[in-house]
Amino acid sequence: MPSAVRRTVLAILATSLAVLAAVPVALAGNGGFLPAQPHSPNAHRINQAFIFVGAFTLVIFLIVEVALITFVIKYRRGKRPITAEGPQIHGATKLEIVWTVIPVLILAAIGTFVFYKLPGITDAPKAAAADQTRISVEGHQFYWLFRYPNGAISIDRMVAPAEQVVNEDVVGLDYDVNHSWWVPDLGGKFDAIPGKVNKTWFKAPPGDYVARCAELCGIQHALMDGVVHVVPRAEYDTFIAQRKSPSGTLNLGREEWQGVCEKCHRLDHKYIGPALGGNSLLADRRGIETLLRNGRGQMPAVGFNWTGHQIDALIAYTKRFVKKGGG
Ligand code: CUA
Repeated sequence: MPSAVRRTVLAILATSLAVLAAVPVALAGNGGFLPAQPHSPNAHRINQAFIFVGAFTLVIFLIVEVALITFVIKYRRGKRPITAEGPQIHGATKLEIVWTVIPVLILAAIGTFVFYKLPGITDAPKAAAADQTRISVEGHQFYWLFRYPNGAISIDRMVAPAEQVVNEDVVGLDYDVNHSWWVPDLGGKFDAIPGKVNKTWFKAPPGDYVARCAELCGIQHALMDGVVHVVPRAEYDTFIAQRKSPSGTLNLGREEWQGVCEKCHRLDHKYIGPALGGNSLLADRRGIETLLRNGRGQMPAVGFNWTGHQIDALIAYTKRFVKKGGG
């Protein structure tokens, strides 16, 4: 094959492979080249910044790679002896000015754009008092605990009002390790660190948004996910009122069992921790409180800061598992 033809064939082959490799990644959407579809104004601005910065990097990447490949081919040694020296060039003032000024302009453009967008990312928009909800997000090994303004609690599933500003206080507990609250559709990652309240917010249409712990926090980190369930305001109000009422106790208890205990325990066989079916501790109010508050051996103090009501709720649900064949 003449060398010119061979060169063309190789170039086409290399380009096709690169395109084939890039296409599935691009089409993958979430987890591909682009971040998740934003469903909150702050998440939207984060995506705009991503795309703005990404456009520069893409153009620079193409210029550098095309130049690199072109020069590698054009200035290859060929038949010249290995000791042959290339022409020695000193100084190129115009070129040096250009390659200094252009990056400065690019950085200035990126900086201006990001600082312009930043207040809309960090600060929640001014909202009417009725349009304000503050939900505390607590990271625990290995579950998310949400506290609502009326004192209601839910585990691994936050219920939030739609089309309204929802403020989140992301916190960690002294006895626990660090976690990171991340709902990709609703904004960036916020660390749950003991001793610090990290504030964020969202304003989203109705829907379910997947949440993840984005900080390796121990053996069941992979199971530390959740959902933000955004519903019309009336439905949200009903939910937190119901959860606070006596009839909500059992629901809370079930969530605690599923979201906290079952991350490491099963009833009928050993999992991360021992099997719990038939264990009298599941109906022993004082015994289980001691265990939840202090942990034991490998088990972290998962209920370190639980209220008496939370422990009552768990017992109300788990006592059924003590009887043989229960559950
Ligand atoms: Cu919590 Cu990973």
